[in-house]
Amino acid sequence: MLKHPLPRLDKDAELKNLLLPYCRFSEGTIWVDKISGHRIACGNSTDENFVQKLFDKEKATLAIHDPPYNFIAFQKSDLENFIKWSKKWIEITYQYLKNNSSLYIWLGADQKNHFQPLSSFIEMMSSTRFKSRSFITMRNQRGFGTQKNWMSIRQELLYYIKGKPYFNVQAEYTDIPKVLRGYYKSINGKVTENIERSKSENIRAGNVWIDIQQVFYRMEENVNGCYAQKPLKAIERIILASSKRNEIVCDFFSHSGTTLIAAEKLNRKCFTIDIDPVFCEISLRRLEKFRNEGKTGWQNSNPFADEINRDKKLKNYLKKKYNFEY
Ligand SMILES: C[S@@+](CC[C@H](N)C(=O)[O-])C[C@H]1O[C@@H](n2cnc3c(N)ncnc32)[C@H](O)[C@@H]1O
Repeated sequence: MLKHPLPRLDKDAELKNLLLPYCRFSEGTIWVDKISGHRIACGNSTDENFVQKLFDKEKATLAIHDPPYNFIAFQKSDLENFIKWSKKWIEITYQYLKNNSSLYIWLGADQKNHFQPLSSFIEMMSSTRFKSRSFITMRNQRGFGTQKNWMSIRQELLYYIKGKPYFNVQAEYTDIPKVLRGYYKSINGKVTENIERSKSENIRAGNVWIDIQQVFYRMEENVNGCYAQKPLKAIERIILASSKRNEIVCDFFSHSGTTLIAAEKLNRKCFTIDIDPVFCEISLRRLEKFRNEGKTGWQNSNPFADEINRDKKLKNYLKKKYNFEY
């Protein structure tokens, strides 16, 4: 049983309103970090003027975006709007990436509806100046559709480039030891086996990632109240492969601040945006928690636990609606 539970905040507007007074963000706020130079901006990623304010004269070398796509009812008009909307933030991203840069996008594919929005999104990307580079699949542990279909356990991650970006293949080894032998080759007259020839004892990540644990409530990095957290390990892998120390990594959909924390851990600067002040606040609190306690999340608690404990109205609301005890 969780000590300080918090429900999915995106589904409870009333609860979010009760938390707003505890947020340091409102529409237009740009928080600038004095320690590592990160920036957290509360606003719309498709608003060019706002994104211009966030970047000022800077540019990033890596973008990692995880837009919301669950809201689409998958009617044709909704899909068209989603793609139009996506094109806007993709074009803004292009503007704020340096000449040789990388772009990664997480996106879902509805198998009951022609793999939308992924299929239309990929089509839309072909009309931009980005070049496609890889299509990565991350394997989830939990899935759905076990009886009547292949269990759906994949998360799709698209990799695009602008120019000829840095790519560090060495950073990309997994923790999985090489177990399969074979593939003999003669080198300078000596027959060697592939494990002898290889640079690492472990296998390379490749474009199918099977070694990353999906975030769930027992993990330290879990942020209660967030519903769409990506695993830190996945974001760290992207950052290590596609950026160097001190470079700027941007993320237009911060939510729980995963990219921010990964950037902090790996000595990169993160410029991130969320339209929702509550998620901007959560991102900032997660950074503060990491700096103060070395913890990457709130396993067994939540970002607003102290306020909920003090604020009777909040406490009663959680008790009445969810039967949560504080
Ligand atoms: C799928 S979540 C991102 C999850 C994130 N990768 C993580 O690990 O926590 C999408 C986020 O985008 C935010 N969002 C939605 N529309 C936006 C917009 N137009 N501009 C900026 N943020 C937006 C939502 O508030 C939500 O927090």
